[in-house]
Amino acid sequence: MTDLGIAFKDVFGRAPEGSWAAPGRVNLIGEHTDYNDGHVLPFALPQTTRAAVARRDDGLLRVHSADMDGGAVELRIDDLAPGVAAGWATYPAAVLWTLREAGHPVGGADIHYESTVPVGGGLSSSAALQVVTALALGDLHGVEMSRQDLALLCQRSENVYVGAPVGVMDQTASACCTEGHALHLDVRGLQQRQVPLDLAGQDLTLLVADTRVKHAHSDGAYAALRAGCEAAAAELGLSSLRDLPAGGLDAALDALADERLRRLTRHVVTENARVEEVIGLLDAGRIRDIGPVLTAGHRSLRDDFQVSCPELDLVVDTALAAGALGARMTGGGFGGSAVVLAGAADAAAVTAAVQAALPAVRVFPATPSPGAYRLS
Ligand code: GLA
Repeated sequence: MTDLGIAFKDVFGRAPEGSWAAPGRVNLIGEHTDYNDGHVLPFALPQTTRAAVARRDDGLLRVHSADMDGGAVELRIDDLAPGVAAGWATYPAAVLWTLREAGHPVGGADIHYESTVPVGGGLSSSAALQVVTALALGDLHGVEMSRQDLALLCQRSENVYVGAPVGVMDQTASACCTEGHALHLDVRGLQQRQVPLDLAGQDLTLLVADTRVKHAHSDGAYAALRAGCEAAAAELGLSSLRDLPAGGLDAALDALADERLRRLTRHVVTENARVEEVIGLLDAGRIRDIGPVLTAGHRSLRDDFQVSCPELDLVVDTALAAGALGARMTGGGFGGSAVVLAGAADAAAVTAAVQAALPAVRVFPATPSPGAYRLS
């Protein structure tokens, strides 16, 4: 039995039926564009959340995590309903509820989790938890579903059950990414394309710098930003800001009375253009040249969208001063991680400089890794 299986047996007193893994993600570029029907370009991390699972036939969901205090959490699946919270176990409970709500014949289960995705680092530890749960329960119950539909189901579990109005990027990245590629997702039509990202082949390194800060107001702020983008689109007579081409930006900004809505609009429109620019450079084999585009993305998030924070700005500025080719915050913001592009030969010096500037930071290289998969 695997270590994960042995740990499952220690907790639940029997062997699991199988085990699965789902990764965290870094978003290379395309931030706060997913809920505006726009473009995103994430890739999966090597860090995963793993789950060993066995079905139960008594209507109970029992979940245990090696990374959380408090032992196993037991829930009756008939009692699950949007808003019924159970700490971290709310996420797996939400996935199970959403599978059943969608008509899938999914019953109770024992699940043991172990994760190497940093929690609170803006690297989608919760999406990894959702996706591994959905994949495992779906496999065990013979649910036929595309990976994109699985990601949409996980997003719905977070929107409806957990109550967070997130977009679909993180779950799609965890479910659909492939090794050696970033995933271009055009959220409007949910079209996917795997874009080759061979960093080592061009002597480049992408570093993730987890600031390990999380600012308290982040939850309400995300919803307010989303609402602001929707208000701007409505005022412009558009169904979403995706429909505003870069060439129409100046006229749209003149038409918007509110300064905040102007800033939000400018970020979303310029960010969609940056995603397309980065994809063009990657397709042309010019990975090094995406650096300035990443940095421009950070400035837009800092100044227009205003979701950066002093620690993220410090990481970005320090990395650039130490020779990085580009750097930006990644994920929702207000803390979490930055992604830094550096020449392979400069990565150690950039890492040392960032660590000296912000001692709490955790820096590691990020290689584009596979999306969710069955382990055993
Ligand atoms: C969070 C959300 C995503 C996305 C990003 C910002 O990670 O879960 O849907 O909106 O923020 O790009």
